[in-house]
Amino acid sequence: MTDPTEMRHKLRKFGQEHLLAFWEELDTPKSDALLEQLGNIDFEQLQSFIEQFVNNTPAPPVSADIVPPHVLPRKPADAEQSELYNRAKDRGNELLARGKVAACVVAGGQGTRLGFDGPKGCFQATPVAKKPLFQIFAEQIQAASNRAGKAIPWYIMTSRANDAQTKAFLRRNRHFGLDGDNVRCFCQGTMPAIGMDGKLLLESKGTLAASPDGHGGVLPALRQSGSLDDMSARGIELISYFQVDNPLVRCIDPLFIGLHDLNHSEMSAKALPKRDPMEKLGNFCIVNGKTSVIEYSDMPEELARRTNNQGFLKFSAGSIAIHILNRSFIERLTEGGRCGLPFHRAEKVVPHIDSAGQKVTPAEPNAIKLEMFIFDAMSLTDKTVILETRRNEEFSPIKNAQGLDSPVTSLHSQVRRAAGWLEAAGVELPLDADGQVAAAIEISPLFADSAEELAAKLDPGLTVTSGQQLYLGSRGQIGGTK
Ligand code: UD1
Repeated sequence: MTDPTEMRHKLRKFGQEHLLAFWEELDTPKSDALLEQLGNIDFEQLQSFIEQFVNNTPAPPVSADIVPPHVLPRKPADAEQSELYNRAKDRGNELLARGKVAACVVAGGQGTRLGFDGPKGCFQATPVAKKPLFQIFAEQIQAASNRAGKAIPWYIMTSRANDAQTKAFLRRNRHFGLDGDNVRCFCQGTMPAIGMDGKLLLESKGTLAASPDGHGGVLPALRQSGSLDDMSARGIELISYFQVDNPLVRCIDPLFIGLHDLNHSEMSAKALPKRDPMEKLGNFCIVNGKTSVIEYSDMPEELARRTNNQGFLKFSAGSIAIHILNRSFIERLTEGGRCGLPFHRAEKVVPHIDSAGQKVTPAEPNAIKLEMFIFDAMSLTDKTVILETRRNEEFSPIKNAQGLDSPVTSLHSQVRRAAGWLEAAGVELPLDADGQVAAAIEISPLFADSAEELAAKLDPGLTVTSGQQLYLGSRGQIGGTK
């Protein structure tokens, strides 16, 4: 524990002595906690961040040398590629059967836009059974483990604000059928909020105002929490990474895993053709020879709208935040306790206390938050693969309370995907006047995880009636009929 006099001296040196202004009023646990929080800050580094992000407002660097990346097509383009994809699927399945793959979800975000009070993974997302997001992923991981004949461990990144709630939720629900030893929560780090004058803010007399360090914080957090060591002890070599907000994600995809491995990639990504030039997806690009993602908010509109000779969008590959990363790559990036990812700056409203100890909630952004983004790791290796996928099959996130990317749009997408699988299996579906499926349909990943698996398992006599609530559960039973 740092000595308070020493800390006061250090804070004075860096112009942050106001952080101990209420020190004398704090009882021992609170004063110890504040000292610990301050002790975790690297003030030299903080000083350089203040110079870089507060005293200056760097324009996002967009180089002149920027070209679209090579993207592997969703379906093989010719016989040679067909053979590669078949080999990749086999390779992916082999790696899964040998226990080389773990799943990792980042679930530390605060879900502010959704307005849901609690960890987003607890949000009830499915159309019939109303399963929480965590359950959808747990069932997929269970199904993939069953197929592989080997348990796939699951690492869940939480943040200080939702760690206890997430763990309690998973325990209460018995990890949705997974062995608790194979489900491991680890907490991401925080970054202090920096006021526009370069001073850190106090949330209360004994606590700094701080927020999660971004999903890129997954890299140092995997190391610091001992999760990388845990993976190493289990023989895990590859990490299948996804975000908590997308109920359509395929948590474990043998083809993607195999393509990553056969190409000796260190970090791979799935991409979608953007719906429109301004869609809020990161843009895959090659910048100065390196595969990179330029975040939608950093992409100049002119560049986002640029077209190629055939009149198609030049930068059409959008990032859906699904990756495979090598454990050894993360070990290299986090060696010596540092993380190779850059920070991004965002101006935010941060409630705090003023010099009189009074709570203040500003109307305008009053502070800079710094976050790391996982996709920046792509430019730190030359070994990357980008695979195109289908929106209807793999992406319909829940981000906003209403409108685009909301619970309602995601429910529609989930029903549409399930309906597509049923139709492919020969089931006739009732349609409403607008040609939309007139039933709510949900297929548990434990029943079928793909159109092919559904077709193989489905009762040929299945009929679906208008207004029906159809649920195909783990044992294939049909429940919830209206
Ligand atoms: C993100 C990506 C965007 C991508 C899109 C796909 C960024 C900056 N952008 O946008 O390129 O096209 O998803 O859906 O990420 N999270 C943490 N800890 C944090 C911050 C976030 O775990 O400190 C998790 C959240 O729980 C969530 C995910 O990261 O699962 C995405 O974060 P969010 O801030 O919602 O990113 P988007 O703006 O939606």
